[in-house]
Amino acid sequence: MGDTPIAVGLNLGHDGGCAVVAGDQVVAIAEERLNRARYSGGWQAALAYCLDAADLTLAEVGIVVFSCVGPRLEDAFTGGLERYGVDPRRIVSVDHHMSHAYGAFCLSGADEALVVVADGSGNDHQTESYFLADRTGLTRVGGNRAGRPRAGGIGATYEAVTNWLGFDGQESGKTMALASYGDPKAIDLPLFDVIDAHVEGHLERTHDRGLAEFAAASGLDLGRPYAWSEPRARDLAAWVQAQTEDALVGVVTHLMAEHRQTNVCFSGGVAMNCVANEAIRRRTGANLFVPPPASDRGQALGNALCGIHQLTGSVPSLPLVGRDSFGRTYTDDEIHLALRRHPFSGLAERHPHRPFAYRRESDPAVAAAELIAQGKLIGWFDGGSELGARALGSRSILADPRQEATRDVLNTRVKHREFFRPFAPAVLDEHAGTWFEIDRASPYMLFAPQVRAPHRDQLAAVTHVDGSARVQTVDRTVHPAFHRLIARLGDLTGVPVVLNTSFNDTEPIVETPAHAVATFCHTDLDALVFSSGFVAVKTGV
Ligand SMILES: [Fe+2]
Repeated sequence: MGDTPIAVGLNLGHDGGCAVVAGDQVVAIAEERLNRARYSGGWQAALAYCLDAADLTLAEVGIVVFSCVGPRLEDAFTGGLERYGVDPRRIVSVDHHMSHAYGAFCLSGADEALVVVADGSGNDHQTESYFLADRTGLTRVGGNRAGRPRAGGIGATYEAVTNWLGFDGQESGKTMALASYGDPKAIDLPLFDVIDAHVEGHLERTHDRGLAEFAAASGLDLGRPYAWSEPRARDLAAWVQAQTEDALVGVVTHLMAEHRQTNVCFSGGVAMNCVANEAIRRRTGANLFVPPPASDRGQALGNALCGIHQLTGSVPSLPLVGRDSFGRTYTDDEIHLALRRHPFSGLAERHPHRPFAYRRESDPAVAAAELIAQGKLIGWFDGGSELGARALGSRSILADPRQEATRDVLNTRVKHREFFRPFAPAVLDEHAGTWFEIDRASPYMLFAPQVRAPHRDQLAAVTHVDGSARVQTVDRTVHPAFHRLIARLGDLTGVPVVLNTSFNDTEPIVETPAHAVATFCHTDLDALVFSSGFVAVKTGV
């Protein structure tokens, strides 16, 4: 690689993973995509994957950067990499929130910005951190008050309510979806005070126990926990969602005025809340950028970008331009082999019980559109995988968005999710403003504008109960095959929109062609389409 600066980033916490940045080349993947354990820690498989995809060895790497949650790593920490020949002096660590900030700012394309980070917890009980960033560096300019309990943070408070409703702390998206069904004013009690840009949450302990203690002390009868199916659970979700939006809007408004800056990057797990992101953009007027891997999945990439800064002395700029695909691509031979092999044993190349037939197609995108227009549920595999939690047309399940029943069919036959969680629409960029209340590209499903009222009936499967949709706008040059698919579907149905959800059942999103074939076989998907040439259809469909 000559003089090209090469950095490896590794994340030690949950959502472990690896990123390699070598000049303009980026390869990154979460460990869960490889070991198939959701939210998995670890980085070993991801490191091997990234080095292989980038055709690099550890000996060529200029710097390795770790991050973690909880206590900050000691300077001597090496992760054991010295056993693989890495000079310990080339192994460093970075603050968790600083890593989030690098990941957001470097991918934004902005030359300078205010960066807001909010999550459950970074290092040393940090829950909110604010930075000023330009090409010379990132400087922390504020955050939560030192000594305030972690439980008082925005992310931890949201997690406490999420736990109360019976969900895992990683499942805050379920609370956000449920919130749209509730009345945020049903509970008249503040969860946060925002003083300047300091968030002072009222919970003193994390998890559902913290919420129970707060409720008891405030005379609030919350009933019993673990009851998301009860009507009052919806109000509880709506309450924490509205309070979260108000707190974030208060913070961002104050920081924008204080630092005279309208470019705002937002990252950390809280930034996965697309409804709050929409509120921030709408209510503050910020030029808001949220990176698709805003949660800890983005730590490894943030670390690697920080490493490039340390190697070169300048903060790198790698604007995303509408794509979140940092995984490796797969050859036609690899895809064909996955289709020939038994989907579960991986052994027999020819087996009589294969539940599908496959063929080559000159334009699989058009074939996929025709299947979708016939009401089929398809798996769609295009290029390298997405790093963030959302499937954006690289590893997606696609369906016709017009009928409300499609949502139930998808949930029953494939996804097995709670009824209240909405599916997202992907719309052709050029038609986005016609169908949604949106005035700019939204390529990452990280905002939730309203579906224009006249079109809600035509988009019944992707319009949430409050009229919003987690829309993805699809650019012709960024996603040519996916764009062609939606355009053809628009020709067939009159609606240039496809329902787009992640390609998985309850396991991590598929990574390899073999994963795709296995999920295709063990779910009730009708067809599996590889944009590069193969279409597989279940026998009897
Ligand atoms: Fe985080």
